[in-house]
Amino acid sequence: MKTEPVISVSALDLYYGEFQALKQVPMEVKGRHITALIGPSGCGKSTLLRALNRMNDLIAGVRVSGSILLEGRDIYAPGTDVCLLRKRVGMVFQRPNPFPLSIYDNVAFGLRVAGMRDGNAVEEIVERSLKAAWLWDQLKDKLGQSALELPLDQQQRLCVARLLAVEPEVILMDEPCSALDPIATARIEELMLDLKAKYTIVIVTHNMQQAARISDYSGYMLLGEMIEFGATAGIFTSPKDKRTQDYVSGRYG
Ligand SMILES: Nc1ncnc2c1ncn2[C@@H]1O[C@H](COP(=O)(O)OP(=O)(O)OP(=O)(O)O)[C@@H](O)[C@H]1O
Ligand SMILES: [Mg+2]
Repeated sequence: MKTEPVISVSALDLYYGEFQALKQVPMEVKGRHITALIGPSGCGKSTLLRALNRMNDLIAGVRVSGSILLEGRDIYAPGTDVCLLRKRVGMVFQRPNPFPLSIYDNVAFGLRVAGMRDGNAVEEIVERSLKAAWLWDQLKDKLGQSALELPLDQQQRLCVARLLAVEPEVILMDEPCSALDPIATARIEELMLDLKAKYTIVIVTHNMQQAARISDYSGYMLLGEMIEFGATAGIFTSPKDKRTQDYVSGRYG
């Protein structure tokens, strides 16, 4: 059985200019499992998530040291193909961000960017991706409609379908349900549980019940540090650190 983590973070420091947002952070992300990052606002959850596919590179003044290995190779090594990295490690954001294009063109986007010209192949992948994101039945007869006209939860699942089309290995989700109502949230959670059969998922969530419901591993962060990381059941029922205990029992702040 393969036990190597898909992503292995060690001693990660990240600075926004003078401000140190991540301090010697360790994390091991296990393949085909869901890992949740929890902790109070401003503790560095999104920063850590964005570091995993170098999305922080887009912010001026960011400096990173330490290492993040993806399948054993350092993603910050010189010569890393960042576009390929972001395809392998895709991201879903807090607010659904479909492109102002048709439903079909949203899902086909990455394939076309990658130069896929075979219309039948594109069509097949669009269908497969929409099915995997549980959208095909609702949307198959209106693929030409603008994605922006869809309800928010379908927009969010369309963003998932857009990622799936380019076959990522890891899916990063930064509070993917925070703009959604409870029913839509439940649907995204079920979708995540379904997707973990094939993909590795890292989710940031403010909602501790959500982390407890869906994740296999959890990391509790505070002021840029990874206070405790481990199996979710342990983090929530028998945390080792007093600070984790205070947070998961709702005593924080
Ligand atoms: N682009 C940026 N420039 C400067 N500082 C930033 C930037 N982004 C985040 N920070 C700071 O880094 C720290 C960590 O922010 P981050 O957004 O990662 O926290 P978070 O845990 O995701 O918070 P939230 O739960 O509110 O989303 C905060 O102090 C924040 O102010
Ligand atoms: Mg955040």
